[in-house]
Amino acid sequence: MKTVLVTGGAGFIGSHLCRILLASGVSVICMDNLFTGTKRNILPLMDNPNFEFIRHDVVSPVLIEADEIYHLACPASPIHYQSNPIKTLKTSVLGTLNMLGLAKRLKARFLLASTSEVYGDPEIHPQPESYHGNVNPVGPRACYDEGKRAAETLTVGYRDYNGVDVGIARIFNTYGPRMLPNDGRVVSNFICQAFRGHEITIYGDGSQTRSFCFISDLVDGLIKLMNSDQSGPMNLGNPHEVTIKELAETILEMMPESKSKISYNPLPKDDPTRRKPDITLAKKTLNWKPTIALEEGLDSTISYFLETLGRPDGK
Ligand SMILES: NC(=O)c1ccc[n+]([C@@H]2O[C@H](COP(=O)([O-])OP(=O)(O)OC[C@H]3O[C@@H](n4cnc5c(N)ncnc54)[C@H](O)[C@@H]3O)[C@@H](O)[C@H]2O)c1
Repeated sequence: MKTVLVTGGAGFIGSHLCRILLASGVSVICMDNLFTGTKRNILPLMDNPNFEFIRHDVVSPVLIEADEIYHLACPASPIHYQSNPIKTLKTSVLGTLNMLGLAKRLKARFLLASTSEVYGDPEIHPQPESYHGNVNPVGPRACYDEGKRAAETLTVGYRDYNGVDVGIARIFNTYGPRMLPNDGRVVSNFICQAFRGHEITIYGDGSQTRSFCFISDLVDGLIKLMNSDQSGPMNLGNPHEVTIKELAETILEMMPESKSKISYNPLPKDDPTRRKPDITLAKKTLNWKPTIALEEGLDSTISYFLETLGRPDGK
């Protein structure tokens, strides 16, 4: 039986990935330091004899056997990655170095979870993989953006100098059940604010755009990329672009019992104004494209939060 290591496997994307991988009949090792991930996310998997959880920080080297490595370990929300920028850089750089070293030793295929943030505040729209980005190396988002850029550089370094079989997923905004309720990511933020009757906080005038990919589509893309021979960066995201104002209005329409009103607040420094993936490469080489429309994905995400926030601990 194939063994797959998922670092960051107790987080939002990782826990969905672990579940789908297990269902496909492989053995899964989930490695996580539980910084932003939770055991609750993987609780339903714990009884599966083919699932193993290891609490470990990827900044420290580890010896373990696996045939494939999905390397997702890294906080993804600004609140968490900015809380300790040095740690975020260590996770991206040293953590990726350690996992690439492991992949080299095991001759395992390695898939890096990179990000659309490598494009920074893009001057090209939509963003193809060939675009090199517009990132402020000393801004508040730099620890994450530059950390992931360095992780990509390490990944192609191990590919070109050590012959490691690698793939790089540049993940665009992904949403769905098991996002944390209060980590500031826009979809969960708006839903939780609407649930609590708080103001829906839009930063700027709401005309900035994002493209939101539902979690099941993203996991499908990650697995297809792992099972391909693609070894360079690949955008994975939903090209359907909406303004943040439209997103807020859609969520309010879908939660008609909410008394929330939209409020406008100053735009944080270096917030990207536009974000939309060019997924031509993924369509052509992986035969992959997102299938879940925004309203459909929001519907199940809202249901998840209504259920979760209704619990006594609200987590
Ligand atoms: N969700 C998105 O929209 C999105 C977009 C682009 C890229 N990504 C990338 O996908 C990956 C997963 O993101 P997510 O949304 O699931 O975030 P998440 O914060 O829910 O998951 C990250 C997981 O990594 C773990 N982790 C963090 N630092 C670690 C360390 N040093 N050692 C071991 N484990 C560690 C956390 O505890 C958590 O379980 C990240 O690498 C992120 O950069 C996500």
